[in-house]
Amino acid sequence: MEHELVLVIDFGGQYNQLIARRVREHKIYCEVISYKTPIEEIRAKNPKGIIFTGGPNSVYLEDSPRMGAEIFELGVPIFGICYGAQFMVYGLGGTVEKANDSAVAEFGRTDCEFDTESLLFGGLKEKSVVWMSHNDHIEKLPEGFRAICHSDKCPYGAIENPEKKFYGTQFHPEVNHTEQGFEMLGNFLYKVCGCKGDWTMEKYAETAIREIREKVGSGKALLALSGGVDSSVACKLLANAIGSQLTCIFVDHGLMRKNEGDEVEAAFANSGVNFVRVNAGERFLGKLTGIDEPESKRKIIGEEFIRVFEEEAKKIGKVDFLVQGTIYPDVIESGLGDAAVIKSHHNVGGLPDYVDFKEIIEPLRLLFKDEVRALGTTLGLDEKLVWRQPFPGPGLAIRIIGDITPEKVTILQDADAIFREEIANAGLDRSINQYFAVLTNMRSVGVMGDGRTYDYTLALRGVTTSDFMTADFSRIPYDILEKVSIRIVNEVKNINRIVYDITSKPPATIEWE
Ligand code: XMP
Repeated sequence: MEHELVLVIDFGGQYNQLIARRVREHKIYCEVISYKTPIEEIRAKNPKGIIFTGGPNSVYLEDSPRMGAEIFELGVPIFGICYGAQFMVYGLGGTVEKANDSAVAEFGRTDCEFDTESLLFGGLKEKSVVWMSHNDHIEKLPEGFRAICHSDKCPYGAIENPEKKFYGTQFHPEVNHTEQGFEMLGNFLYKVCGCKGDWTMEKYAETAIREIREKVGSGKALLALSGGVDSSVACKLLANAIGSQLTCIFVDHGLMRKNEGDEVEAAFANSGVNFVRVNAGERFLGKLTGIDEPESKRKIIGEEFIRVFEEEAKKIGKVDFLVQGTIYPDVIESGLGDAAVIKSHHNVGGLPDYVDFKEIIEPLRLLFKDEVRALGTTLGLDEKLVWRQPFPGPGLAIRIIGDITPEKVTILQDADAIFREEIANAGLDRSINQYFAVLTNMRSVGVMGDGRTYDYTLALRGVTTSDFMTADFSRIPYDILEKVSIRIVNEVKNINRIVYDITSKPPATIEWE
């Protein structure tokens, strides 16, 4: 693709993805590559700028990550962050000292003063808070460098060699706690590297569509559409690129949320692709009869999913390309741009083994989740699908505690739809990261009108989280919970009690099963 490129060279820092996202937020395309990448490969990429990430090591240790001196001879601007800055100093003949040699280790919020004459800090406030996290510190600068920021403890909070366009900070400009961090990165990218900011989703879509057409030629492609954000956006992109050469198979296991199967169909059935919806609800429910153990439910659904997909794929025969919705965090996590790595934890895992195809296409491989959403919007994908919250592959099966019946599925779909509607009405649908209803297998006594009831308890769950590994329960206002509770008990049969889950993860998980 013809656009400006910035390389983020990863030295093992915990914020490598965050740096890349910040660069992209500045509308500049970047790639994260390993510090082990051969210099010829880096040169061939012709980057406008290079950013060294932080890292857990000390530069002077024997096995710490280092690059050859050639990286400093490319004539490309470099910005080193934390370990990256220390590596730059070390690599160019300065010295870096251990923390225990002096008292200059710094962690957390730190007040700093900046030299706004430097391009890196041009137009910024002279004093602000930064996020430090370093044990080691720069002791002696290499030739041609000068200090451009200091804190009480640290004389070299940031350094520059303007002639060579080398910059470094001991702090992390990429984290939100660094008040002017985003602007600093912007200064580096625009003022030092001379970037123009040509990374837009319109352009991405245009180029991706052209490239997909070139690659696929007159061949056939197959995509497993789950209705999730990634597979939906991939489908839309492919639909625009190759239309009827694409077949997408949407296995509706009957355990989607209310109307969701129809929404997916409406979004794709008339988009020019061959759209196959397999209504396999009865088949899945049949397999699940009498099963109440969560892991067994998952296993049965996973296997059945593959069986159904396989049967449909066989009807199509040999295809040339299998489309997968792999996104950039998967690529980074599974081995830094290694082209051979294919997403292993796919919702419908194992598909490639069962389908006869020549090659894989991963059209979202370079995008972060928010960029995938932006691309979906650019392509005109239904907002409901663009902003769909994560939904587990086994669907409502793991939100019905105990055994599953068609009646229970309907009860849960209706109750969950009311909850979602009220959350959206309250404008909370984008701030709560995941929210849903769970049908427990507990019944209790209630009174409605003049009669006694003995019905199910429904649990509501709402969580705030950035990575779904840990989560906090959402503080949904009581008046909204009250409205939801009244509506569900009145509108959905067989529910007479509603509880709200106030556990975080850990110790609980987000799903109940
Ligand atoms: P837990 O319950 O483990 O969930 O805290 C973390 C995230 O993963 C989703 N989840 C699943 N997704 N298949 C999936 O595709 C599954 O079996 C599954 N179980 C949980 C869950 O919805 C949450 O976003």
